[in-house]
Amino acid sequence: VLDIRKLYAQADVFTFDPGFTSTASCESTITYIDGDKGELLYRGYPIEQLAEQSHHLEVCYLLLYGELPTAAQLQDFENRVTRHTMVHEQMHNFFRGFRRDAHPMATMVGVVGAMSAFYHDSTDVNDPWHREVSAIRMIAKIPTIAAMAYKYSIGQPFVYPKNELSYSANFLRMCFAVPAEDYVVNPILEKAMDRIMMLHADHEQNASTSTVRLAGSSGANPFACIAAGIACLWGPAHGGANQACLEMLREIGTVDRIPEFIARAKDKNDPFRLMGFGHRVYKNFDPRAKVMKESADEVLNLLGIHDNETLKVAKELERIALEDPYFVEKKLYPNVDFYSGIILEAMGFPTSMFTPIFALSRAVGWIAQWKEMISDPAGKIGRPRQLYIGAAARDYTPVSAR
Ligand code: ACO
Repeated sequence: VLDIRKLYAQADVFTFDPGFTSTASCESTITYIDGDKGELLYRGYPIEQLAEQSHHLEVCYLLLYGELPTAAQLQDFENRVTRHTMVHEQMHNFFRGFRRDAHPMATMVGVVGAMSAFYHDSTDVNDPWHREVSAIRMIAKIPTIAAMAYKYSIGQPFVYPKNELSYSANFLRMCFAVPAEDYVVNPILEKAMDRIMMLHADHEQNASTSTVRLAGSSGANPFACIAAGIACLWGPAHGGANQACLEMLREIGTVDRIPEFIARAKDKNDPFRLMGFGHRVYKNFDPRAKVMKESADEVLNLLGIHDNETLKVAKELERIALEDPYFVEKKLYPNVDFYSGIILEAMGFPTSMFTPIFALSRAVGWIAQWKEMISDPAGKIGRPRQLYIGAAARDYTPVSAR
């Protein structure tokens, strides 16, 4: 049998591929993307079917274990996740060490990284039981941590999880419930949040997932690796795009100002980009954006939001970009972040929570990819090469002689 990895290892070739546009860093069985066809499959299942018929915790099971669960397996998985949604009470004190107005992403990087201190009884990467428990803990606790980061940033008391609720309803309640008032989660918002979670659950070797794999390749524990992934996700070219997109829509402000921003996006001397447009892999359309657009319409109808100025700008921008030759030629279509930002804004989330919600949704993808990497017997530490273009060898001169 031809061992392709051995062949590559022995080959006397050196590739220079900035941004890794054509280099596969691993083999994977988790997610398949066909950028030209606009196709996204989780373990072979089309994202559109999952978004329509499944729900986030079932998708978590599928991504982690490779197959859809039976009813009994799903029940057991949901029970296990539900039993771990609370965080250790001592973590509340840890939260209190942050500045009160810290960005929730800053808090999340710190708190998720600190899970390796709070839950060090599941950090032995060589022990399958530890891997399993850390995966469950991560999926169960990350919505609680994100909601706590939000509550802390607005000076409200933390809300404990209520585990008879669904995963998405529980998260919405932890964010929006206040003491002494009943909070009932609207089923349309619950479904929209669940879809946001499913659609962001995995996306093969994007920047944050590659960061998780690279960190994990050294044997670092999963909590540390996922904290690294969250840090990477924060950037505006990646998960931070949904926040940046909404801020851009607000900055544009009114429909009559759109041409000015379109002109800036086309100007090579201006670093401005239309946030929420374009994708490294999808060059025809982003299949997640299609589903998300439907959800956006449902949520806006439910909430009766029709003439909001930000939304008008979004709709007009979408129309212009789909017709303008610059965007058509460069295949710059609205991506998933364009619509998720609109939904989250309508639900009442501040823009600072958009990327934490992306992070909690992606946690399962990161952990599934980490598990796959760590279980590969032929796995190696990630160690990219470089093309050195610095000074040639030269002799040191003492400071007095410079
Ligand atoms: N607005 C204006 N022009 C753009 C945009 C944009 N949003 N995106 C790409 N372009 C242009 C570039 O200027 C470039 O033009 P050129 O060929 O004349 O030099 C061309 O399109 C190709 O752009 P690249 O940067 O090479 O494309 P790449 O595949 O590396 O980038 C990316 C993809 C980062 C998503 C980019 O489109 C972008 O910055 N979009 C805005 C940020 C965003 O929405 N990110 C979310 C990504 S999806 C996600 O993380 C869930």
